[in-house]
Amino acid sequence: MLENKNIAIFASGNGSNAENIIKYFENSTTGKVKTVLCNIPNAHVLIRANNLGVTSTVFSRDEFYMSDKIIDILQLEKIDLIVLAGFLWLVPENIIKPYRNKIINIHPALLPNYGGKGMYGNNIHKAVIADGNKESGITVHYVNEKYDDGDIIFQAKCKISDTDTPETLAQKIHALEYEYFPKIIESVLMKIQ
Ligand code: GRF
Repeated sequence: MLENKNIAIFASGNGSNAENIIKYFENSTTGKVKTVLCNIPNAHVLIRANNLGVTSTVFSRDEFYMSDKIIDILQLEKIDLIVLAGFLWLVPENIIKPYRNKIINIHPALLPNYGGKGMYGNNIHKAVIADGNKESGITVHYVNEKYDDGDIIFQAKCKISDTDTPETLAQKIHALEYEYFPKIIESVLMKIQ
């Protein structure tokens, strides 16, 4: 029988995707969210995790880049897959190496366009609309040493109308994220040995 795989979510902010993923896997036999890791002490994601009975850890920049605090937690919790859901820092090599092809991110645009440093949150939606695009979407991809650069696993699109603002586009994107991201995580988990 296949064993239930352990997921760690990294998040920096609101955490609506984290909550959606935690709930999706609550009754799953494929995976379970074991822990939430967060770099912002007062991020709302920490309250969401606590309300759902998931442990969380806050870490500083120094702890992330100059210590083994996070890799130690990942190994202690026997994490099989790392999911970045609104996490804004580049993942350091001491985590990338042992988790090659086992870290995935969701990006709220159609990569390879509108990715890279500084391309997050409303910055992306503003740029997409300002350029006159008629569609945008979400990209789930593997994470490597660069921002938004790893192999693409999945994309879904939405239409942009003339009346869309960065805020209304963000709502459309979030709807796509809630619908697809947990299912894509599940399909990645099923491929992990
Ligand atoms: C999402 O749009 C995600 O694609 C991006 O950051 C946002 C996080 O939203 N990487 P939330 O914190 O899950 O509400």
